[in-house]
Amino acid sequence: MENFIFQNPTKLIFGKGMIAQLAKEVPAGKRVLVTFGGGSVRKNGVYEQVKEALKGFDVVEFWGIESNPKIETLREAIKLGKEQKVDFLLAVGGGSVIDGTKLIAAGILYDGDAWELVLQGGCKHALPLAAVLTIPATGSEMNNGAVISCKATEEKFPFYSNNPVFSILDPTVTFTLPKWQVACGIADTFVHVMEQYMTTPGQSRLMDRWAEGIIHSLIEIAPDIIENQHDYDRMADFMLCATMGLNHFIGMGVCEDWATHMIGHELTALHGLTHGATLAIVMPGLWRTLKAEKMAKLVQFGERIWGITEGDDNARADLAIEKTEAFFRSLGLPTRLGEAGIGEETILEIERRFNARKVAFGENQNVTGAVARQILENCK
Ligand code: NZQ
Ligand code: ZN
Repeated sequence: MENFIFQNPTKLIFGKGMIAQLAKEVPAGKRVLVTFGGGSVRKNGVYEQVKEALKGFDVVEFWGIESNPKIETLREAIKLGKEQKVDFLLAVGGGSVIDGTKLIAAGILYDGDAWELVLQGGCKHALPLAAVLTIPATGSEMNNGAVISCKATEEKFPFYSNNPVFSILDPTVTFTLPKWQVACGIADTFVHVMEQYMTTPGQSRLMDRWAEGIIHSLIEIAPDIIENQHDYDRMADFMLCATMGLNHFIGMGVCEDWATHMIGHELTALHGLTHGATLAIVMPGLWRTLKAEKMAKLVQFGERIWGITEGDDNARADLAIEKTEAFFRSLGLPTRLGEAGIGEETILEIERRFNARKVAFGENQNVTGAVARQILENCK
């Protein structure tokens, strides 16, 4: 096990009716910038609940943070926040609204253009923020990450700031999610766990079993929640799986991969494909490409998750990859580039970008431009 320091400062407030807790949790005397996405919260009653809970608070609203939040939109919110001298932020929405709000919270305290912060990958200061989560997927409600896009340059980069001070998770608000978003949220959660698991074996028995526990739960509930988003207990499990998948609990003392994510971000940046859908395409291809170095863990995963106990290691790893791809397909997601209308030109562009940036990802830092290209060739 590697040395580590673990601290997760987010207070998690979970359950039916808990949005009302905002009245207690938002610090008194603050001027609050409340941020929203495209309007789903107006249709499912979340907006009304937030408004009710914040009666008597000094509130400024900002609407229109889109999926894969764009710097072009966030600049407007930063301008508003500066003008209005806000000193607390509340994100009401999915990962995109929360991520965007993390950048707004930093941008308000920054004199330059906030895209500079994204390119630096982090910031020195940020205003405190909190969240009301409406879609289980990213874990942004309990981590310090954000992923910000630029429309003009078709780029998408991670940025790190502060965790939300608190996040409210009411599973009933997920009842209105479209099937596609549920499927993408399951895939995102699955892959977050794998980015922290499918690496070197034997680093931590406990982390392995926590990770496998999340995956078992997801596989068990997936068929039900794809069919029916109205089962409270199932959606509650899904919501907690997603949060636990990326709040760094399962990453203590183990190395991490994240190459699937970095390639997936490029597919979103260039084609607008939903985040979770990019991962369902890239991860099986990455495993096919890096099978030899991930072999021991693929075999463990195959046995413990898919019950594969026969054949040599190579055959077991192949079957584990096949079963994982079949799981993504069972959610209704594409698992090949062609199905998403993505061709060779994009593969070459991603290779070019990784080479130009001189980056290499993965637990062994060997996913260079050339390896990313091989991976994408294996996603055709
Ligand atoms: O914008 P509105 O109208 O609210 O609609 C949203 C959006 O269209 C809709 N939606 C959300 N909650 C709903 C709902 N519709 C009906 N009922 C509800 N309860 O769903 C759509 C997708 O929302 P979005 O916030 O984009 O989804 P998600 O939470 O998957 O966030 C994706 C973004 O997060 C980043 C991704 O790259 C992507 O930009 N990620 C952030 C991470 C982090 N901060 O740690 C890690 C992840 O790996 C990921 O990269
Ligand atoms: Zn993700």
